[in-house]
Amino acid sequence: MSADPVWPQGYGKIAHRELDSTNDEARRMAEAGEAGPLWITAARQTAGRGRRGRAWDAGTGNLAASLLLRPQAPEAVIGQLSFVAALAAADMAAQFAPGAIIEVKWPNDVLGNGKKLAGILLESGRDSHGFWLVIGIGMNLADFPEGTEFPATSLAELGVAAASPDTALCVLAARFAHWYDVWMSLGFETVRTAWLARAAGLGGPIRARLPHETHEGIFAGIDTGGALLLNQQGRLRPITAGEVFF
Ligand code: BTN
Repeated sequence: MSADPVWPQGYGKIAHRELDSTNDEARRMAEAGEAGPLWITAARQTAGRGRRGRAWDAGTGNLAASLLLRPQAPEAVIGQLSFVAALAAADMAAQFAPGAIIEVKWPNDVLGNGKKLAGILLESGRDSHGFWLVIGIGMNLADFPEGTEFPATSLAELGVAAASPDTALCVLAARFAHWYDVWMSLGFETVRTAWLARAAGLGGPIRARLPHETHEGIFAGIDTGGALLLNQQGRLRPITAGEVFF
């Protein structure tokens, strides 16, 4: 990292030493009427959550951050913001580790040299103040969990010596603000194109594991709704939720 990152205008920030989960704190703040956009971080989470009900242990020195937003957009397109967040997290990782291969993995992970570097958890709700969205991002800066089904890594393992959670958040927030502006002004197509340019495994064989079935085929892209397109003997099967393995 060369120049000092600049915090994006209009975004708030609250840093905690310890929380159950930054996503849970963001939801509580939304329900208390907070309008956002507001980044919430915790040096330690006692009940961090991942996708599919899994626990997320951020580990000391890693980044655990959630953005509370009230997007002025139809709820049907809000899922597109997971691609906005993945691009922001990938940009951040690439700024810190310019020598590593940084990719995005459907639906919204970030990989470093083929291993999981960051995960993203979107949660939303509606209350008396309107619709709210929380985008939770966990990035392995200092260490990573061993023995995970999909192998993990950290920026430290990629050779980045001093990625502090504070600096990482500042870069992440700036890159999110950039891609959020792109999404709002140019729409999802520009985001989709940028995401595909960074996508791991595009054009190659993958296995998509759904809750009750598994499908194999060629990763052909994502559609305008963000579903993964699996080419199975020339027929495109959209996958809207699941886990991908290469
Ligand atoms: C995944 O399963 O890949 C998503 C992981 C998301 C973890 C982050 S850490 C910050 C925020 N707070 C949480 O409890 N979860 C998300």
